[in-house]
Amino acid sequence: MSEIEAEVPPSKALFTITENMLDSGLRGFPVGTVRTSHVSPDLGLTYGGYPVEDLKDLSGEEAVYLLFHKTLPTKEQTATFKADLAKRCVIDPAVFAGLKALPKKGHPMEWFLAAINLLGMTAKTGDYREDCLNIIARITSVTAAIYRIREGSGEPIAPRHDLPLHENFVHMLGLKSAHPVLPDLLRLFYVLHMDHGGGNLSTFVGKAIASGKADMYSSIVGAMAALYGPRHGRANQECLEFVKLVGVADPAAAESKVRGILKGGGLVFGFGHAVLRAEDPRAKIQYDFAKRHFPNDRLLAIAHTLRTVVPPILKENPKIANPYPNVDAVSGSLMTAAGLLDPEYYTLLFGWSRVAGIACQIVDERIVKGKKDGFPIYRPKYLPVDQPAKRLGAQPAAPARTA
Ligand code: MLT
Repeated sequence: MSEIEAEVPPSKALFTITENMLDSGLRGFPVGTVRTSHVSPDLGLTYGGYPVEDLKDLSGEEAVYLLFHKTLPTKEQTATFKADLAKRCVIDPAVFAGLKALPKKGHPMEWFLAAINLLGMTAKTGDYREDCLNIIARITSVTAAIYRIREGSGEPIAPRHDLPLHENFVHMLGLKSAHPVLPDLLRLFYVLHMDHGGGNLSTFVGKAIASGKADMYSSIVGAMAALYGPRHGRANQECLEFVKLVGVADPAAAESKVRGILKGGGLVFGFGHAVLRAEDPRAKIQYDFAKRHFPNDRLLAIAHTLRTVVPPILKENPKIANPYPNVDAVSGSLMTAAGLLDPEYYTLLFGWSRVAGIACQIVDERIVKGKKDGFPIYRPKYLPVDQPAKRLGAQPAAPARTA
């Protein structure tokens, strides 16, 4: 049996689509193949076949190498890859000048969209592999520059390529009081958020845009616009607000608070997922990190309580297929504990990481696995409703079917 036959029968077998599955966000429809990562409903995320639990101690460079080359690097390969990324980290001053002209009231993700466009306008080559490695090499400097310029902290800080990616990032953020755990937390955050199968919204959108042969940068801009949505990447901001809203770590009091929020029509954030049917392993890894490094943090104590209290409450609703924590459940509380206090930057950090996975998947579709011009342009079928056939000047048609 081929790798994919486990999920999709051999050719000629059809995937049966019923009418009630239409307009469901393509939920569960096998529409393509992916070479970088996979999300199993029960086991969660794997990169190159490795469970993410096995990869949680990787450096950012090693994780990028794995997604780009589909194999874990040796120490020498990592050093060579890191040196190549350092050489590629050349940013036109027009990018920083453009950032300085942006309105401070813009959300960091709106700044991110502008920044990636500026990178493309000043440096795109049109070669998907080159632009993939170049955007990955430059995105950390640009993300740090967005933080410093938007916060008025001062000029962008030049990178130090002698440092590992995450330590270089903290160096370029130039935080006055960076928590000693922050570099390793950002490393973990970068590795965990890099890729999540082929069908998450931001990745799907990025590949769809690239399927029209738009350049890498324009495709990533669209992907990041998708990530900015509160149902997708901005959920980590909402999750922190939810933890703060519950506000108590005592299990009985927390349960009562959650039931009150649901009864009042409020939402529970950080639980559930379109594909997963078990606790997101990326959440487990973050809970473990929080226990190890921040055992006495108040917000994290609430997040740990919610991990236990919320699933039984959600299971009471038969419509909820997955009541378990997802990647966002504790990430904001962790970032807050490590001193990154403004939740508006949490989605920017998600984008900082996810650019790598999406860029690698665009390369796979445009060059590695596809035909000469890569996979065909995305063009799914939509069925017409509420528009019965008619002609101008003809007898009035039967009244349109009400929606
Ligand atoms: C992600 O990592 O992209 C989110 O879990 C959403 C998804 O997988 O659809």
